[in-house]
Amino acid sequence: MLAPLFFAWLASAAISTKPPKGFVTTKGNQFQLDGKPFAFVGANSYWLPLLTTKDDVDATFKEMQSAGIKVLRTWGFNAINATELPGALSSGLTYYQVWNSSDWTLNDGPQGLQRLDNVVETAGKYGIKVILAFTNNWVGYGGMELYLNWIAGAGNTHDVFYTNQKIIASYQRYVTTIVNRYKNSPNIFAWELMNEARCLGDLPSGPACVPGTELLTKWYKQQSDFIRTLDPHHLITTGGEGHFFKKENIGFWFNGTFVSDYNFNGQAGEDFDLELHLDNIDFGTYVSGPYVPIQFVLIKHYFSTCISRYPQLDTPGSNFSVKDWGLMWMQDHISSANKAGKPVILEEFGVTGLQNKSEIYPAWVQFALDSKHAGCVDDISFGMLGLKESGGNRLIKYADALINGASPNDGLAIYKNQSSIWNVFTTAAKVQSAQSI
Ligand SMILES: *[C@@H]1O[C@H](CO)[C@@H](O)[C@H](O)[C@H]1NC(C)=O
Ligand SMILES: *[C@@H]1O[C@H](CO)[C@@H](O)[C@H](O)[C@H]1NC(C)=O
Ligand SMILES: *[C@@H]1O[C@H](CO)[C@@H](O)[C@H](O)[C@H]1NC(C)=O
Ligand SMILES: *[C@@H]1O[C@H](CO)[C@@H](O)[C@H](O)[C@H]1NC(C)=O
Ligand SMILES: *[C@@H]1O[C@H](CO)[C@@H](O)[C@H](O)[C@H]1NC(C)=O
Ligand SMILES: *[C@@H]1O[C@H](CO)[C@@H](O)[C@H](O)[C@H]1NC(C)=O
Repeated sequence: MLAPLFFAWLASAAISTKPPKGFVTTKGNQFQLDGKPFAFVGANSYWLPLLTTKDDVDATFKEMQSAGIKVLRTWGFNAINATELPGALSSGLTYYQVWNSSDWTLNDGPQGLQRLDNVVETAGKYGIKVILAFTNNWVGYGGMELYLNWIAGAGNTHDVFYTNQKIIASYQRYVTTIVNRYKNSPNIFAWELMNEARCLGDLPSGPACVPGTELLTKWYKQQSDFIRTLDPHHLITTGGEGHFFKKENIGFWFNGTFVSDYNFNGQAGEDFDLELHLDNIDFGTYVSGPYVPIQFVLIKHYFSTCISRYPQLDTPGSNFSVKDWGLMWMQDHISSANKAGKPVILEEFGVTGLQNKSEIYPAWVQFALDSKHAGCVDDISFGMLGLKESGGNRLIKYADALINGASPNDGLAIYKNQSSIWNVFTTAAKVQSAQSI
């Protein structure tokens, strides 16, 4: 009499912990979809939820599908403060949160979360899964400094975001809204805690956030554990840039002088190896400098900073080229991920100029493919031509314009008309797809 009951209980326990059909999981350093390997090429498009018509959203996903893209990374946030509201309303700007006091209000209307609903739903129609980030380290599109300004007030350093209890509660209230909205959807690939969390942002960092304090790691742990209580099945990742905190002083030679490379010395706040071992961080993310992810930050403000991150590479007197630096950076993350037994995604990368792209991307992409690290080739900045919106020339926000129907170009976007570069990724997508069976 006992035995059948016992087995019935076992079966129901197994059912309740097994991810539903269509959810991405991990096995060792690989992603899986419904028990099969899931290797892919992904795309970044922060501007997709900002589009005002469903037709343009549909056309973009259709183009992604035809390029073989399987994963889209976009913003799960778009926040403004009340002074921006009249402009947002008259220009059709997408916004989800409005700040006018220490408590933001939600916009779940047709110009708000319903646009994100449409993106998530349309992704599914084209067999694409979405990575959503909850906020931004930078001010672009309403980042974490809105929480700082409105809750903690002026005079605080950027890193106060990671420790102020009221800010954490407010961030978690937003996270709860988004996670609960899509937690049953197989169209979500993963949740991302923050785009490129660092000790500093537009505001400087303080003494609590320096190499060794592990402030970011503690925040990553707290937030990933929190999300796991809301959603047992979707993958969770940091959204970080993949900076290391190595004991050795790593760097390169320039003009006879050793230059310490801040990507390895913990200065930005991350500790990639430690984060990757957190229980509820399911895979690692990193971005490939030397030219970083300008597409996601306030372009006017950051363009010059990012471009000058490594002024020395590729110049006479330097022992490193951009191409070789990128290969080393990829190898370092793949090695770490293998050690941790988790997958890793190169979430953003790019060099400016068609010539540079043609010279460098084939080598980087081939390296990622050869590593057989599922999902390793990911997240090009996706460019779309032929958008119909408002005559195709609306200023979306900040410096991102749609010009003649082309999606915003941060210098890293790849459009279909740039066929030699485009083909590097469509070919890679076919290779990845062939490994996903
Ligand atoms: C409103 O948002 C803008 C853009 O992020 C920011 O510059 C401004 O300081 C904000 N205003 C307040 C009162 O927080
Ligand atoms: C923002 O707060 C001010 C002062 O309380 C108020 O006058 C204004 O109407 C509010 N704006 C919005 C959009 O809620
Ligand atoms: C440049 O020098 C650094 C520091 O000695 C070294 O680690 C790196 O491998 C060198 N780069 C190349 C391409 O030889
Ligand atoms: C390289 O070193 C030489 C000699 O010290 C110096 O004159 C020159 O300005 C340096 N070049 C750069 C780009 O720093
Ligand atoms: C190509 O790369 C070189 C070397 O890193 C850089 O100086 C140049 O500005 C880049 N070209 C374009 C068009 O961005
Ligand atoms: C492709 O389209 C983009 C966006 O409209 C444009 O800037 C570029 O000049 C076009 N041609 C090439 C070869 O990149």
